[in-house]
Amino acid sequence: MVAEKMYELGTKKSTIRTIFEFGRKRAAEVGEENVFDFSLGNPNVPTPEFVKQAVLDILGEMEPSAIHGYTIAPGNPEVREVLAKSINERFGTNFAGKNLFLTAGAAAAITISFKALCEPGDEFIAFAPFFPEYRCFVESVGGKLVVVPAKPEDFQIDFAAFEKCLTPQTKAVIVNSPNNPSGAVYSEETIKGLAEILRGKEKEYGHPIFIISDEPYREIAFEGYTVPYVPKYYANTLVCYSYSKSFSLPGERIGYIVVPDEIADFGKVYGAIAGAARVLTHVNAPSLWQLVIARCAGRPSDISTYVKNGQLLYQGLVDAGFKCVKPQGAFYLFPQSLEPDDYAFCERAKKYDLLLVPGTDFGCSGHFRVAYCIKTETIERSLPLFKKLAAEYAQ
Ligand SMILES: Cc1ncc(COP(=O)(O)O)c(C=O)c1O
Repeated sequence: MVAEKMYELGTKKSTIRTIFEFGRKRAAEVGEENVFDFSLGNPNVPTPEFVKQAVLDILGEMEPSAIHGYTIAPGNPEVREVLAKSINERFGTNFAGKNLFLTAGAAAAITISFKALCEPGDEFIAFAPFFPEYRCFVESVGGKLVVVPAKPEDFQIDFAAFEKCLTPQTKAVIVNSPNNPSGAVYSEETIKGLAEILRGKEKEYGHPIFIISDEPYREIAFEGYTVPYVPKYYANTLVCYSYSKSFSLPGERIGYIVVPDEIADFGKVYGAIAGAARVLTHVNAPSLWQLVIARCAGRPSDISTYVKNGQLLYQGLVDAGFKCVKPQGAFYLFPQSLEPDDYAFCERAKKYDLLLVPGTDFGCSGHFRVAYCIKTETIERSLPLFKKLAAEYAQ
């Protein structure tokens, strides 16, 4: 009667959603302040004042129809020129407006990219741990998600394992740095290594293999860590960018895809992106927010809260006896669980109202994710509870 797969996707709650709802229920029972909800990646840093000002200026200065009307499908041409110029200033690239396609955030950007590239039998590679939505996005366009096992020492890429996953059916490789959930930033060495292997395989298989660089956390990189701009290392790259995290605008849905001129058959790829956006009924990215980001292009993100929270939580967890890779960016930690079954571990943590997400959900068992985009004071009060939880396992 209905599409069973869609029914399943729409009704089967994700673990994160279930934990979040449990948290709401507990908050009603024991009080908001006694629940330590580390489950959601919803930025807690206020949206910058310059964004608010841009909204007010636009609403005050422009005709309503020019603000709220449809734009052409790839987005307002002037906005795309401004954004291209801003990217060029930062990364020394040579993009123009025609290289950008504005989208409703990164989720739309990556789904449109998957749909644009996917032919029957195609495989898309993700590195564990990875953003769980990749699986349903890839499968929704008829592709197969192939997962490269994690390199838990540093969450860079295990190249030997990666090479084993490449086949003539590989269409694209998804890169997400700074990473959700590991908090790792891929080094220049990692990106160079990845590019070299892919160039070799493109030659061997006789067709392009794309990198889809999913970059909603690009601006959230901590001191000492630089996020390499992937198109500078590998021509066949699509960059999927979003303002959800950098400007704390996740509900407004605004981002873009960059399609470099150097990509194999620019005209075909850009055309397929436009076609994919069309059938996914994307229509155009939100018009007001296109105008807003053009006025805010190049403005810095305030990441000081995430720096402070990341350091505090990392040190607290290590002091309590957890093993964890140091945070390099984004706003997540991905420590080892204190028993191999990460679901059992996260269940046990609920006893202290610590709401954590099992690593298995991200394709990496024996770990758990802690989202630290919450109040610093909440993290401070959670640390004795993590200590108590760890002490249970020390007995
Ligand atoms: C790795 C990753 N990619 C994409 C997204 C989707 O972001 P957006 O809000 O821009 O659609 C998220 C959101 O949490 C994410 O963590």
